[in-house]
Parts: sequence; structure tokens; C-alpha cells
Amino acid sequence: MFFRRALAFLPLIAAGPALVAAHDARQETSSAAASAPASASGSAAASGITSGAATLATTYTFSLLSSNPTAIPLSSINAAAATESTIPLPSTATPGATATFLSPPTDSDEVKAWIQEVADTGIEIPFINANMEGGCPSNLDAAKNESNCWWTCGGCTRDTDVVSCPDKYTWGLTYDDGPSYYTPNLLKYLDEQQIKSTFFVVGSRVISFPATLQEEYMSGHQVAVHTWSHPYLTTLTNEEIIAELGWTRKAIKDVIGVTPNMMRPPYGDIDDRVRAISIAMGMTPVMWTRISEYATFDTGDFDIHAGTSTVQDVLQNWQNILGNASEIDTGFIVLEHDLFQQTVDVATGYILPDALAHKNPDFTIEPVISCLNKPLSDAYIETNDNSSNPPVVSESAAVTLSSGAPGSAQATGGSESDGDDNGAAGLRTSVALTAVLAIAGGFVTGLSMLGL
Ligand SMILES: *[C@@H]1O[C@H](CO)[C@@H](O)[C@H](O)[C@H]1NC(C)=O
Ligand SMILES: *[C@@H]1O[C@H](CO)[C@@H](O)[C@H](O)[C@H]1NC(C)=O
Ligand SMILES: *[C@@H]1O[C@H](CO)[C@@H](O)[C@H](O)[C@H]1NC(C)=O
Ligand SMILES: [Zn+2]
Repeated sequence: MFFRRALAFLPLIAAGPALVAAHDARQETSSAAASAPASASGSAAASGITSGAATLATTYTFSLLSSNPTAIPLSSINAAAATESTIPLPSTATPGATATFLSPPTDSDEVKAWIQEVADTGIEIPFINANMEGGCPSNLDAAKNESNCWWTCGGCTRDTDVVSCPDKYTWGLTYDDGPSYYTPNLLKYLDEQQIKSTFFVVGSRVISFPATLQEEYMSGHQVAVHTWSHPYLTTLTNEEIIAELGWTRKAIKDVIGVTPNMMRPPYGDIDDRVRAISIAMGMTPVMWTRISEYATFDTGDFDIHAGTSTVQDVLQNWQNILGNASEIDTGFIVLEHDLFQQTVDVATGYILPDALAHKNPDFTIEPVISCLNKPLSDAYIETNDNSSNPPVVSESAAVTLSSGAPGSAQATGGSESDGDDNGAAGLRTSVALTAVLAIAGGFVTGLSMLGL
């Protein structure tokens, strides 16, 4: 049963007809086996075995006590066999399965070293209690406490968050939650269209699909961090947050040889405590564009798989995103996923082709690092020359976490707030010169210009 279903779920990369042929052959065998005696004989004449067009001349003497009802017919096991689909290892997540993630422990030598690394930056981690699970309704005090800048409840962002691309009609393309079984389907399409993306990857899936991550990296996509086990980061302790980010950073480094300097919090669940830890670990938070409570640039693609949303809903969301994108002064970043076959199917079949067909003007579709007008090499610690992308923290810097820094960007309800540019530029300068982490105070409800 599982065997059949797994086969049905497998991606049909370049082997569609062959897979169908193999599947049909298997069905035939099943019915043949049902009517055949339990033993199989080696007599070619008795079983009518042929190899290609030629009837086997030899009479074999083997006999089997049993054969698998779903066996590939002997006549199909030869040099001319149609390509069959492969089967995922049981140790990797079955497509569509509920995640059985383990959160990393916090008492390992590695995590202790990363805790020390965070302390050594001098960045003050604000004292904010870990939230309860259940989001805003379960954490009413925190939800209305504007000083924590908790994105989940109201969309607050800081200058240090990347929330859009600076240039209008530029789409900072991102896919979250991979690598997965379906990532290769997406990579194939992106390659055909010569589009590069940013992938926010889950560390526990990086070690399941290391070759997929290498393919992303080697073909020029941007790889960034999306935690180890996909938790709501604001519900974790400081040490647990460090472990989630640290292990993912390490898995990526071990697989592709470089260390990403951007991260996206799962569910966008970030507050000033999570921000400070991310930045102390050298990772700039990247959100998706949100211009109001009702206009968040989330396609909702994740929900098709669970049946809580339809593909039509997703395409309606996409149209609204495009409408809003044409109204704002900046470019934009959209939430999409390469986790499920449905999310990849809607991306490659509809959303990307639609975006590519957009004229007057064309969209520029590129990874987040590129949409920030920085070279791809700036996306990794080892290859960043620190000139166009100065590290957000440096060892010698005196780092302070300030609230309500003068000149900081605070948009208040729209895309037209020109003050953003000055504020962001001012912040960029101060970060470059003194590595002061200036986190602006106030409850930002509108589009905040990117920082850094
Ligand atoms: C808001 O949160 C901060 C940090 O957790 C805390 O110090 C402050 O007392 C809170 N304010 C209110 C009004 O609860
Ligand atoms: C912006 O998005 C909102 C929410 O999805 C939608 O109602 C609105 O029509 C969009 N604006 C445009 C101009 O498409
Ligand atoms: C860039 O900055 C990082 C962090 O401070 C440092 O480790 C790295 O060596 C720097 N790279 C160069 C080329 O200076
Ligand atoms: Zn995610």
C-alpha cells in the first residue's frame, strides 16, 4: 500500500511516459501473479519469457517458491528496461508527512561555543519572555507590547529586517522549507528560465538532501537559514534559538562550504530578542513584504497541501500581490515554498510563467542578495569581501541595542513614506562605520524600508 502511494507521489522528472509504462507493467504482473501458482518456474517455454524481441533459447531450471505480487515482470528486467522511478529512503521525510523534527539540545559543545560567540559580540539580547505556543491569542500581553516588535502580531519590523527590494518591479524570489523531493522540479524550471532564487533551508532537511543543496549552491542560487526544526522562534529560549540557527548554519557550511548571512524566521515569527540573536550570529533577518494587515505578500501556497486553501485561492492571492506590487515604490519579496509538490506545481506552472510574461515593465526576478544590489558572493561569510555588504557585527565594534534611534526608518502605513530612504541610509552608514545595531523603536505597521 505504502509502496503504491509512494510511487504515485514521486516527481515525474523527465521520465513521465516511462514511469507510466512501468506502472502499467506492474499492474499486469499483479493480476498475472494472482492467477498464477505460487511458485515460478525457470522454464522459458512455460512462462513465455522473452527478452526484447528474441525468445530465450535456453531452458532454465530454476524455480522460485514465491514471487512478489508487485514484481516487475521478468520480461521487463533487462538492458532495455524502461526507467523506473526511485523510492525515498525511509529515514527521510515522506512527502506530505507530518514533521517529526527533533529540536537540537542546548548543552552540546557546539551550542555552548555558539552561545559564547553570541556573548562575545557584546550585543545585548533584550529580556523578553519566550512566548507560549498559540500565537497572539495565547500571548495577549506580548501581542500588544509594542516595544518587543513582534512581527506575528501586527507586522512590526525593524531597520535591520530586509522586507523588500529597493527597486520597483524587482522581485526578490524566495522559497522556504526545502530541500525537499520537489526542489529538483523547481530547480529545473528555474534553470530553464535562467532565474536565480534565494532558498531558506531547513537544517534537518539539508542533511537529508545534501545533493539538492549543493545543486542550489552550484547553480548560483542563494542559500540562507530557516532553522533546524521549523519552530516558532519566539517560543524558544535564547539557547534554543542559538541551537536552531547554529546547527542549520553548520549543516549548510558542511554541505556547501560556505556560511550564509541571511535567515528567515519560520512563520515570520520574530521579535527583538530573536532579531538580536540572529544578528549576533551574523544573520540578517529577511521577511516577506507586508504593506498592511490585509496586504501581506504571502501566496498561501503552503495551505494547498493540507486542503485548507485551493490553488485558485493562491492565484487570487498572487494577483493581489501583483496589484499591490505595482502600487508601492519599492520592489517586493513574496512567501512561497519548495516543500510540497503542490507549491512547486503552482510556482512552475503558473506563478513564475505569469511573472515572466509581465510587460511594461518586465519584472526583475532575482535572489534577495541580488535585489539588494549586492553580488552573490556577499551572501556568505567566507566570500563576502565586506565592502558592499559590511558585516552587521564585527569583533572590534561596540555594539549596542538601541530603541528609537534618531533617524531610524519608521513607515507608518503606506508605501509612500519617503522618510524611509533617509532613515535606512543613515542606518547603513552607522552600521558600516561603527557597527551599532540601531533597532528603531515604535510599532511599524507599514512598509519599512530595508536595512543594511
Ligand atoms: C513590554 O515588554 C518589555 C520586555 O519584555 C517589558 O520590559 C515591559 O515591561 C513590557 N511592557 C508592558 C506594558 O507590559
Ligand atoms: C492588495 O492586496 C489586497 C489584499 O489581498 C487586495 O484586496 C487589493 O485588491 C490589492 N490591491 C491591488 C491594487 O490589487
Ligand atoms: C568580513 O567580516 C567577517 C566578520 O567580521 C570576517 O570574519 C571576515 O574575515 C571578513 N572578510 C574579509 C575579506 O575581510
Ligand atoms: Zn517555513
